[in-house]
Amino acid sequence: MLSNSLHERDIASQLHPQTNLSLHEKTGPVVMVSGHGAEITDSNGKTYIEGMSGLGLSETRLVEAATRQMSTLPYYQNFAHRATEPGIELATKLLGIAPVPMSNVLFQSSGSEANDTAIKLAWYHFAAQGRPEKRKIIGRNRGYHGTSIASASITGLPHLHRDFHLPLPNFLHVTCPHFYREGLAGETEDQFSTRLADELDALILAEGPETVAAFFAEPAMGTGGAVMPPAGYFEKIQKVLRKHEVLLIADEVITGFGRTGNWWGSQTFGLKPDMISCAKALTAAYMPLSALLISEPIYQSMKAQSEKIGVFGHGYTYGAHPVACAVANEALRIYDEDGVIAGVAAKGEQLGGLLAPLVSHPLVGEVRGTGLMWGIEIVADKVTRTPFDPARGIPAKVQEAAFTRGLVCRALGSAIAIAPPLVIRPDQIEAAAQRFSAALDQIADELGTRPQ
Ligand SMILES: Cc1ncc(COP(=O)(O)O)c(C=O)c1O
Repeated sequence: MLSNSLHERDIASQLHPQTNLSLHEKTGPVVMVSGHGAEITDSNGKTYIEGMSGLGLSETRLVEAATRQMSTLPYYQNFAHRATEPGIELATKLLGIAPVPMSNVLFQSSGSEANDTAIKLAWYHFAAQGRPEKRKIIGRNRGYHGTSIASASITGLPHLHRDFHLPLPNFLHVTCPHFYREGLAGETEDQFSTRLADELDALILAEGPETVAAFFAEPAMGTGGAVMPPAGYFEKIQKVLRKHEVLLIADEVITGFGRTGNWWGSQTFGLKPDMISCAKALTAAYMPLSALLISEPIYQSMKAQSEKIGVFGHGYTYGAHPVACAVANEALRIYDEDGVIAGVAAKGEQLGGLLAPLVSHPLVGEVRGTGLMWGIEIVADKVTRTPFDPARGIPAKVQEAAFTRGLVCRALGSAIAIAPPLVIRPDQIEAAAQRFSAALDQIADELGTRPQ
């Protein structure tokens, strides 16, 4: 009864992002009421293994850190020379663990805001250098960087642009680095990476290097379908960026804090960024918080600009929220002291080892991933790699079949992503893989494509 009235009240009142709103009126929400470790329970009492989450859902140390901070100083802002202890501690820590030397940290509340800030700072930086025309931003097809006007403009997913009049002018996109989908017949991964670096070089030259400010990349693409970069990709791309003095901004909103087996995706995939945006696992998502790490040259530009203008004219009220920062400080301690990040490699090997054989399943074209970030490419024809007609929603059907079996995973285009909490146990990894495999079999049976 309670859940029915929750359903009705939700349909009557709440808008759900990334949702078919018309379908939602018919189906209503699945209302999640509690979480424990890597499991989540809905309002009907059904429990699922969470396959799309961070540190885990019942870490009392994070709750206690928030409670302590709430009762000491629940809020203060960091505008105009004000600071709080948790904010100072967190900025210091982030600089200490940064994958490349960084100079300063700026806090926001979401990944979108961190990426918006990075765009503004790229513009501010080149303006400080007397090159204000250097302001075009390059993203990648299928890249995801958020849904604010600017971060959606860097994003390379058509449904985030369509009928929103996006992307904004001066936001450009290059080919998605997905070898399985974009590689040419007979091309090696390395040749594919060279071709993409040449494409970027040609685009920058055509636009005029003096007009291009920054290139955004997720070290491994999340929402685009858990796409891992091909061999040599970032090495070749960074050569082009350096040649044209184009900043590299690593969007580590998903890959930051252990997801790929190292603290940063930049370490796993060899990026040397000028700025890094991060969020999500920064607080294990217990509180909204994002951070933008910036290099020394960019800080020097900001300092020069704020001297010239009189003030650094940017910031968010909740930017370095002390409760969020206190939770982040505790999360970083747990990641380190409890060996959470150190444990990802072994868990990733287990999960990858269980998922890899699915490549011989009639519906699966590719299994890819690293650490606790995996993508399974669903295909209609394995030989030609043809995906299903998107209108049939086959990956979404697999997602639903998995959900019915008690596994949360996510259909993303023609792929399904599984990225469980970093604290998932080996028995839960095994159960997750079994449930996913059974879901695939169910849909293959329904389609009549399962081998007898
Ligand atoms: C790589 C990446 N960047 C940015 C964002 C946007 O973050 P938020 O939803 O907190 O604005 C996301 C969110 O999923 C993301 O995956």
